[in-house]
Amino acid sequence: MGGTAALSHVEYRRATPADAESLARLMADESVFAGLLQLPYPTAEAWRKRLESQVAEAERLHLVGVAGGHVIASGGIHPLAWTPRRRHVAGLGLAVAAEWQGRGIGSEMMRRLLEWSDRWLGYLRLELTVYTDNAPAIALYRKFGFAVEGTQRAYALRDGVYVDCLAMARLHPNPPRLPTESA
Ligand SMILES: CC(C)(COP(=O)(O)OP(=O)(O)OC[C@H]1O[C@@H](n2cnc3c(N)ncnc32)[C@H](O)[C@@H]1OP(=O)(O)O)[C@@H](O)C(=O)NCCC(=O)NCCS
Repeated sequence: MGGTAALSHVEYRRATPADAESLARLMADESVFAGLLQLPYPTAEAWRKRLESQVAEAERLHLVGVAGGHVIASGGIHPLAWTPRRRHVAGLGLAVAAEWQGRGIGSEMMRRLLEWSDRWLGYLRLELTVYTDNAPAIALYRKFGFAVEGTQRAYALRDGVYVDCLAMARLHPNPPRLPTESA
């Protein structure tokens, strides 16, 4: 599957509960879920519940890339605010199916997620965590303006080992302006 020519056939759209089965399949691949905080043996049912609860969440975007009827990429921006004082902050996550990695899908997902956030939601600060040994993801995030803010030790358990992660963040490069006053 895949190939550069096939990239133009990837459709990008908001995830819906009907994507549950396809998303569970994407997340069942260890090379994908190990890089995230997901667990082995995901179920379509659990994903359906999660996707159903997201339907009404206007401040969240769960974007999927779809090719040949399958979800081949999943990424999102979600509010983190438990207090109004962090209304300007959102988290970001991303995953591309193993056989589609290295072909620009992750970059296109990032471009679309950031455009939605920067131009329509106006989040001022985006945060993410990435395992310190995930070179492709770190390079991708740097390319889109994320900077390393620190290392979080033994952040998560991954395949029997506690692993460190980097805390990365990006401030809005061009925060929304007020309209200019007409005289
Ligand atoms: C990280 C991930 C999303 C990247 O998606 P992708 O579709 O492969 O990304 P792209 O093809 O757009 O590549 C983007 C950039 O990543 C970097 N990159 C890609 N593969 C790389 C590699 N093997 N080593 C180092 N950098 C790499 C490059 O900087 C590249 O940009 P460039 O092509 O302009 O040089 C994908 O590898 C993935 O889903 N991994 C499993 C889940 C995961 O770890 N998600 C991140 C959780 S924080």
